Amino acid sequence: MKTPLFEKAIGILDLASDTDYQVLDFGCGQGEFLHTLSGRIGPGSRLVGYDAMEKSIAIAQARYPNAEFICERFAEELPFPDASFDVFVTIDTLECIKNKKALLSEIHRILKPGGKILAMHWDWDTQTYNIPTRELARKAVTAFSDWKQPWMDEADGQMGRKLWGLFEGSGKFHGSPDAFCLIETEYEPGRYGYDRVQDLAGAVENGWLDEREYSQFRRELSTITERKEYSYSVTSFIYHGRRA
Ligand SMILES: C[S@@+](CC[C@H](N)C(=O)[O-])C[C@H]1O[C@@H](n2cnc3c(N)ncnc32)[C@H](O)[C@@H]1O
Repeated sequence: MKTPLFEKAIGILDLASDTDYQVLDFGCGQGEFLHTLSGRIGPGSRLVGYDAMEKSIAIAQARYPNAEFICERFAEELPFPDASFDVFVTIDTLECIKNKKALLSEIHRILKPGGKILAMHWDWDTQTYNIPTRELARKAVTAFSDWKQPWMDEADGQMGRKLWGLFEGSGKFHGSPDAFCLIETEYEPGRYGYDRVQDLAGAVENGWLDEREYSQFRRELSTITERKEYSYSVTSFIYHGRRA
């Protein structure tokens, strides 16, 4: 589902296929990014995934036995020695982290001098749905963006646009901003935009959007799909650089 995003990340990282790297994916989910990366770098590389969700880590361990997965909820410290990684990656996780200052210090500590960092994050306010009632599109996007899902310690729908300031402003890393825009024209299960519309049911349960508005939103999406006018987009902001 996020393959184009992962490919963008791998392109930016620009790692050599004949070199072994120690790579940490913070908030690895079910391990798909590490799986996409494996086979593109040296066979002696160490791939480590770290995530708080037991279910996701169990799936990752079963699917990708060649990587290491650690189930832990980050609060203030990461369980790795100083200078133990060449590459630190985090995708769509930072908005959930309460103590971002502690995380940045820990990333700086566990990266080797000159080690690479790549952080990507959707900016949920950048979602666009091409439906006729523009106020409804805006309301649905804002409801999704502001909604703190039950598994999150914290939520920030505008995390994407804040990555540059967070990392570069810390003085611990030197890097560049980049962005990736996902565009879809199919409204069907498994598509990113379609699946987010299903997730939005949770925002309705939590009062961010009312049931009537949610029904109308889905009706209008079906109508533009029948007319072959459906389009969805969302932008991922990127910070990539090196440990200072
Ligand atoms: C939106 S998912 C992204 C997963 C994966 N990086 C991807 O792009 O598909 C965010 C992940 O962050 C993890 N997470 C959230 N808060 C965390 C914390 N405090 N410590 C560790 N993992 C956390 C969640 O369990 C979840 O798997």
